[in-house]
Amino acid sequence: MRIGLLNGGGDCPGLNAVTYGVVEAADKMGWETIGFVDGYEGLLSPANYKVLDPISTLGIQKLGGTILGTTNRGRFSGKVGDGGVRKIPKELMDEARRNLESLNVEALICVGGDGTLTTALQFSEEGFPVIGVPKTIDNDLSATAMTFGFDSATQTVVDALDRLHTTASSHKRVMILEVMGRHAGWIALYGGLGGGAEIILIPEIPFSYQRVAEAIDRLEAQGKTSTLVVIAEGAAPAGEEQIVEDDSAGGEIRLGGIGEQAAERIGKLSGRETRSVTLGHLQRGGTPTSWDRILGTRFGVQAVKLIEQQKFGRMVSYQHYKVGDVSIREAVEKLNLVDPKGQMVETARAVGISFGD
Ligand code: F6P
Repeated sequence: MRIGLLNGGGDCPGLNAVTYGVVEAADKMGWETIGFVDGYEGLLSPANYKVLDPISTLGIQKLGGTILGTTNRGRFSGKVGDGGVRKIPKELMDEARRNLESLNVEALICVGGDGTLTTALQFSEEGFPVIGVPKTIDNDLSATAMTFGFDSATQTVVDALDRLHTTASSHKRVMILEVMGRHAGWIALYGGLGGGAEIILIPEIPFSYQRVAEAIDRLEAQGKTSTLVVIAEGAAPAGEEQIVEDDSAGGEIRLGGIGEQAAERIGKLSGRETRSVTLGHLQRGGTPTSWDRILGTRFGVQAVKLIEQQKFGRMVSYQHYKVGDVSIREAVEKLNLVDPKGQMVETARAVGISFGD
C-alpha cells in the first residue's frame, strides 16, 4: 500500500509533526508514504514528490515550516476573493488523478485550511480516496475545537506583547500590535488575554475609535500610564470595511493595514503618543510549541487510521480532548468565529479588557 501526503495553504507550526505522525503510523502498517512537493501543484506532471520514511523524517516534529513545501495561491486554490468557492478545472483534476494512479497512490492525505480542504472535497467528490487534516494558525475551522499552529502563533503574540509592554511603559505610550487571523479574532483574543493587553479589537465585535480613546482615559485614571492594544487584521470600526492589503494574487484576499490606521486615529483622538507594530509572518514561523507538536502528531496518526478504516471524505477533528473525524463537507461549511457573547469574551471583559464597543 502506498499513500500520498500534501500540505496546502499557508505554512503553520506543527505541519512537520503531522508528516512525522503519518510516516511513522504508515510504516508500522507496512505502507509507504510519498509526500507531494508544494501542495497540489506537486500532483501535476511531472509529479513532484519525495519518498518519506522514518529515517528521512527523523526529528522533524520539532521543526517549523514544512519539509514538503506548500502553495497558498496556485492553480488548485479552492477559495478565492473573500472566501468564495472555486471549482478546480476538470483538466487539472484529471491530470492529478492520472498521476496519483500511475504512482499507485491508494489514498491521499491533504493537510490544510479552509481552501485546501475545499479542494480536497472536490477530489473526494470525484471519487478519489481522500482524508483531510485541519491546519491553520487562525483556528477558524468549525468542525474541530482546535487546529495545530494556533498555540504557537498565540505564544508569538504573547512574547511580542511582553516586549512591547516594557517599551510602552518606559515611554508612557499606546502600543498597537496587529496580528493575523483573517476573519476570526482568535489569535488576537487569546494572544491579548495571555499577553496582558488592555484593549482587544476583533472582527466579530465592530469597534469605535472614540470608545477606544475613552478606554485609554479610564485606564489612565486608574493609574495605568501605558496601553497595549491588540488588533486583528480583520477588525474594522463599525460601519467601515476591513482593510485589504492585496486582492490581486488569484487566491483569497490578504488583509492587513488596520494597525497603522488605528495608531493614527487613536493617537489623534486620545492625544497620546501611539505606535504600531505588525507581527505578520513571525506568527507562522519558528518552532512549534509542545502542544502543536503533539496535536500535529495525533492528527497524522489519526489520518492513517482513517485510511485503514476506509473512512474516505473525512477530516480528522479534535473534540472533547479526543481526536476523531467529521465529514470534510461539514468542516468547510462554516467558519469558527469568536462568539461576542461567549465565555472567552466574557472572561476578558471581566478582567477589564475593552473591545472598543
Ligand atoms: O490563514 C493563515 C494566514 O496566516 C492568515 O492569518 C493571514 O491572513 C494569511 O494567512 C496570510 O497569507 P499569506 O501567506 O499569503 O501572506
